[in-house]
Amino acid sequence: MEKIDWKNLKFGYIPTDYNVRCHYANGEWSDIEETRDEMIPIHMAASCLHYGQEAFEGLKAFRCPDGKVRIFRMEDNAKRLQSTCRALVMPEISTERFCEMAKRVVKLNAKFIPPYESGAALYLRPLLIGTTPDVGVKPAKEYSFIIFVTPVGPYFKGGFAANNYVIMRQYDRAAPLGTGRYKCAGNYAGSLLAGKIAHEAGYAGEFYLDAKEKKYIDECGAANFFGIKNNTYVTPNSLSILPSITNKSLQQIALDLGLKVEQREVPEEELATFEEAGACGTAAVISPINRIDDMERGLSYQISKDGKPGPICKKLYDTYRNIQYGIEPDRYGWVTVLDITE
Ligand SMILES: Cc1ncc(COP(=O)(O)O)c(C=O)c1O
Repeated sequence: MEKIDWKNLKFGYIPTDYNVRCHYANGEWSDIEETRDEMIPIHMAASCLHYGQEAFEGLKAFRCPDGKVRIFRMEDNAKRLQSTCRALVMPEISTERFCEMAKRVVKLNAKFIPPYESGAALYLRPLLIGTTPDVGVKPAKEYSFIIFVTPVGPYFKGGFAANNYVIMRQYDRAAPLGTGRYKCAGNYAGSLLAGKIAHEAGYAGEFYLDAKEKKYIDECGAANFFGIKNNTYVTPNSLSILPSITNKSLQQIALDLGLKVEQREVPEEELATFEEAGACGTAAVISPINRIDDMERGLSYQISKDGKPGPICKKLYDTYRNIQYGIEPDRYGWVTVLDITE
């Protein structure tokens, strides 16, 4: 194994030793396989390649100050994958099988779990693909489910910082009754252009409004949105956003910290009233928001007063990270502790 520069890891792909797989055929899942092969032998007519029968997840395992390894909320990722499976007419992976494979792939790649001090983590990427060769638009009969891992760096290299975002009025990420609330590949391909334009214009990411009325905040790139005002954590309730596990956890932490929580429609104009705001997801936990521009309307919502993350975002972030690292008590059974001594 090449020496890994733990402190300079990006959110990219570094090969590890093993991945785990199982296959579905004749209505049944096979035994779990461990393999060193990074390639998937796939038929050129496989349904995932043409009709997007692909579902995936993203979660992290951490090496903690007590020497243990913790995986965060993997049962929730299993459940979200099951909901994507139902939406895309794919066979579900049981929570038990998902968790067994997640634990196994982390243990098999223990030497790739970054040290606590680096702030980096081991990212788990479960993916499910339809593999039956066919050119007709219909669900596949065979599937492969794989979990691979790769070490990824901390999102904030220079510390927790506030970023600028832009509302993309000319693009929609997902339709209200479409697939926005599921984690399937097509949603991401469809967001690449808006993301590219936002990044080229110097923004950290793009905001989508609800596709029907273009009135309410939906999502922020591959992250959910929340705003803080009057001691309240406000986050959009929308049929076209991915139910973020980070957002769900932050809502609980906000309640525990004595904030109120409101999940409801958030009109764009309300951005002007937030004292703090953030984009949240597995990659960064919270990416605090400095300013959100609506270029087409010539509007700019300045959220941070001094360009820095606000105190509530900081407190939410610190509490969240401390739970992930086993520093604060895991009151809700979110973490799975693995005993790995390597
Ligand atoms: C579109 C989208 N929204 C939100 C999120 C955040 O979800 P989570 O907190 O489960 O990582 C993600 C990332 O997984 C995403 O891809």
